[in-house]
Amino acid sequence: MEMREQWRSRWGFVLAAAGSAVGLGNLWGFAYKASQGGGAVFLLLYVLIVLLVCLPVLVSEMVLGRSTGKSPLLAPIAAAGSAWQPMGWVFVFASCGILAFYAVLMGWTADTFFHSLFFGLPGTLDEANEFVGSVSTGSSVFLGQLFSLFLTASVVVAGIRGGIERLARWSMPLLFALVIILAIWAATLPGAIAGYQEFLFKVDFSQFSNLKTIRLAFGQAFFSLSLGIGIMVAYASYLDKRSPLPKEAVLISSLDTSVGILAGMVTFPILMSFPVAKDALGESFVKTLFVALPTGLSSLGLLGQLVAVLFFGLAFIAALTSSISLLEVPVSSLIDRFGWTRDKAVIFSSVFIFLIGIPAALSDKVLGNMASFLDLLLLLGGFLIAILIGWFASRVFDEDLAGCNSSFRGRRYLKFMLRWVSPPVIAFGLIVSLIDLL
Ligand code: PFF
Repeated sequence: MEMREQWRSRWGFVLAAAGSAVGLGNLWGFAYKASQGGGAVFLLLYVLIVLLVCLPVLVSEMVLGRSTGKSPLLAPIAAAGSAWQPMGWVFVFASCGILAFYAVLMGWTADTFFHSLFFGLPGTLDEANEFVGSVSTGSSVFLGQLFSLFLTASVVVAGIRGGIERLARWSMPLLFALVIILAIWAATLPGAIAGYQEFLFKVDFSQFSNLKTIRLAFGQAFFSLSLGIGIMVAYASYLDKRSPLPKEAVLISSLDTSVGILAGMVTFPILMSFPVAKDALGESFVKTLFVALPTGLSSLGLLGQLVAVLFFGLAFIAALTSSISLLEVPVSSLIDRFGWTRDKAVIFSSVFIFLIGIPAALSDKVLGNMASFLDLLLLLGGFLIAILIGWFASRVFDEDLAGCNSSFRGRRYLKFMLRWVSPPVIAFGLIVSLIDLL
């Protein structure tokens, strides 16, 4: 039997998993969702959900992957029997669906990057609208989507060590450095304080009962941590038995949340500092930052152009380390289930994902709906994982964590949360989200 490939080092795994978590969801989604009325309450709910619900589920996903050594499609069966087969298919289809619209957004990001680099930034509202039109409509969308999927496929085809780990090792430190530098720079802008107030400190307690705020917080927590669709199952299946999973989970979620907050500390000061950026903040679900940021930054001349190039370059790299993790789910599943070669699995999955992404490329309404619907699938996946590991395969959980020397008390705490807290809280999130969406 062929040996399963393994990460070169513990850090390779942590950086790759953090790379999956940190993506467009942090650089753009976090700030956008916080600005939809929830403000500080959104942020508080988000942190609570991550701590109480997502952390135990994250550890469970990793345990599921590591203890079975299987792809997301087959790991649930290996852990708890063939009745769990549908869960594996939910993972595979959800990750294909997410990558389908994610690649379109990546295309916009790449386009904005190249546009800012070669043609400069739009200075007026008219130019801004023209700018966003050129980025998000017509053939440039398909080109961007193809370009993004092509890069994603070329990394995944090179395998775990040679592709995914190699990319994460240099890109993640660069990304952290860039977002910190940009946040420090943004702190010097005249609208910095107003920006922080808008983002972090706008407290309105009535938001606790706002269904939309609750839905956005749940969706963002799962989306941002890449949770509930088997990505961490796939990545942990290449992990050795000694890595301390609970510690890794805390590290990954701290890095992810920090980048989300830092990114908000870049975008909000920019938006509050330049009036033209606020005017450009449109109604559209997705286009906001793609127009408002470059337009606002244009008032700074060459420096603004440099910041825009850095920000969108950073966003694209962050997105790439996420898109490769999404592609790894169907790819590893096809290899595992049908014995395909990696090349064949990558080509087949990428073409399939390109095709189902076409409607999202043609209409941002479809894109928005796809994103909201798939958030529900992530919650459903998280719910199933909590039930599977908490109730049906809890011995696997104990044995795996005991094997990596995690403390008995820590294990007991995690299992308690997994059994009694995560399922009802996620079910609540799912129901609220459904009611709000309908
Ligand atoms: N976590 C990534 C982000 O925040 O952009 C993208 C992502 C990966 C979302 C995997 C969802 C997912 F299941």
